[in-house]
Amino acid sequence: MKITVATTGLKVAPFLVIGSGIAGLYTALKLAEIAEVTLVTKETLKESNTTYAQGGVAVALSASDSPDLHYIDTIKAGAGLCLPAAVDVLVNEGPERVKELLAMGVPFDTEAGALVTTREAAHSRPRVLHADGDATGREISKTLVKLVQTNPQITVMENHYAVALLTGAEGCYGVLTLDENQNQTCLLAQATILATGGCGQLYLNTTNPEVATGDGVALAFHAGAPVADLEFVQFHPTALRLPDTPCFLITEAVRGEGGILRNAHEDRFMPSYHHQAELAPRDVVARSVLLEMLKTGNDHVYLDLSLLGPELIKHRFPNIYETCLSYGLDITKAPIPVAPAAHYMMGGVATDLYGRTGVPHLFACGEVANSGVHGANRLASNSLLDGLVFGHRILTYLQTHQLSFNQLPAELEATFSAETNPAQVTADRLTLQQLASTELGIIRQENGLCQAQHYLTATDLKQVPTLTPDYLELQNLRLFAQLLVTAACARQESRGSHYRLDYPDPNPAWTKRIIQSPQGTSTIPVEQPFTWRW
Ligand code: SIN
Repeated sequence: MKITVATTGLKVAPFLVIGSGIAGLYTALKLAEIAEVTLVTKETLKESNTTYAQGGVAVALSASDSPDLHYIDTIKAGAGLCLPAAVDVLVNEGPERVKELLAMGVPFDTEAGALVTTREAAHSRPRVLHADGDATGREISKTLVKLVQTNPQITVMENHYAVALLTGAEGCYGVLTLDENQNQTCLLAQATILATGGCGQLYLNTTNPEVATGDGVALAFHAGAPVADLEFVQFHPTALRLPDTPCFLITEAVRGEGGILRNAHEDRFMPSYHHQAELAPRDVVARSVLLEMLKTGNDHVYLDLSLLGPELIKHRFPNIYETCLSYGLDITKAPIPVAPAAHYMMGGVATDLYGRTGVPHLFACGEVANSGVHGANRLASNSLLDGLVFGHRILTYLQTHQLSFNQLPAELEATFSAETNPAQVTADRLTLQQLASTELGIIRQENGLCQAQHYLTATDLKQVPTLTPDYLELQNLRLFAQLLVTAACARQESRGSHYRLDYPDPNPAWTKRIIQSPQGTSTIPVEQPFTWRW
């Protein structure tokens, strides 16, 4: 639905950042060096995917490594769909950004004064920095939140849900928010930066927190911004699978340190799927785990840590050790039951290499953005780096381009989905998650995709309810699922995280990216960056 809001009496602030993961917090801090920033987040500042990130930050800092090697690994993992220019930016600007994090006080783990690096899947070198063992995201978030809270240039608005972007003749003017007391607020800014994270909540099993409901993709799409690569959803191969226990990430670094995957018959299976065995690209490991689960009729496989020994387990993975212990599982004595879980969306709001989207004055960075850096399958631990590098590029752009509106219209438009019966929100969300988990998950095929498409169009009840965050989140998940289905149906091949039983091989004719906007669906050659005329 489309509503109009009056702008009388409203002030246009310089910068508005929506979201508080690494991309939102870091970009707000950087922009605050040049002007005032308002940071809006739908929960508390610390509640984001970043906080739950365990493995770390991939960056070529050690003497045995180089940005060129990092580039090659990223391109390989991306299965032919990375934009080379974006990967070049990531690996070459990454080291400076990480040094900045260190200067900000992020306590990356060191030994004898030197940063410790670990190896993760599909990396040719140990290049993943971590903090407090397996609590890297929590430590980064804690450090950045403190800096944001004490920065006089930044106004923080927690518990403000972004309902819709405000648009008019000159592009995006800001956002309409809803708070816990149902108050609506219009926030206007010369530059609006989306940093709202991913969409893991589309699935029953996800490593993502409750807040990851694909909001940014929906906000941008309704505002007219093209989105791309939404068929590529990454499933992490190893999330804890215990009865009546929340889904909890078991970092890939456990395999990097020697963890072995075994099926229900205790047989090691990864070497028969890929020469890199447990350290094969993430999509390969996730699919292999699922196939072993299906073969043995179990809902999990096992991650055997016996090669690591109790001391290393407790020292290197204190967070996983304590969490599993709290569920009655001592991982120094028993293997961990694990299964794949939705983890990361490679696609998102299409951006150029300075975070600009297809709508003037609207930028995006972090998981919600798609600069082309991850292709069809993100290399492990490249996501935190992505948030930093492309967040910083937004600063670079805004430092060199004075953005302002010629005129503030008397009224702005706010467009969002409002089409189902509000009484059904909880049940509908569960039905959608069940459907996505079976038909839009690790293995897909024509029949299931059509079934999902039918559900998403046939259950549209066209009633306009009271707006609540729960209701709006469900609508955003539905829109995300619709966009995913459209792209997954079109891509009649298997590539990276998109695997189709009916088209099990990659098709060179599909070495291109799918873009969707309210105007329709098209494709773009893989080497072609998104370019916008503003
Ligand atoms: C992990 O720690 O295994 C996750 C890291 C990532 O998703 O990059």
